[in-house]
Amino acid sequence: HEKVKVILQIYPFNKKIKGDSKKVVDFIEIEDITEKASLCRCWKSEKWPYCDGAHGPHNRLTGDNLGPVVVRHKQK
Ligand code: FES
Repeated sequence: HEKVKVILQIYPFNKKIKGDSKKVVDFIEIEDITEKASLCRCWKSEKWPYCDGAHGPHNRLTGDNLGPVVVRHKQK
């Protein structure tokens, strides 16, 4: 029962972001990224499309290993 409960908590991945949209697409202007931007891939961030650390509790609950993609300027 615990496994079923965890699975039901996982699907669908997106439980809250732009629920009225058929597909969630976001645009970030490259020029607006000053140093770096961490983009959420777990669908749980309150600061979507940016990561706010919400992947941590998700990973602890599910054993998953999700994390953001970090977009940054090339290191010199
Ligand atoms: Fe979603 Fe960090 S909050 S990847």
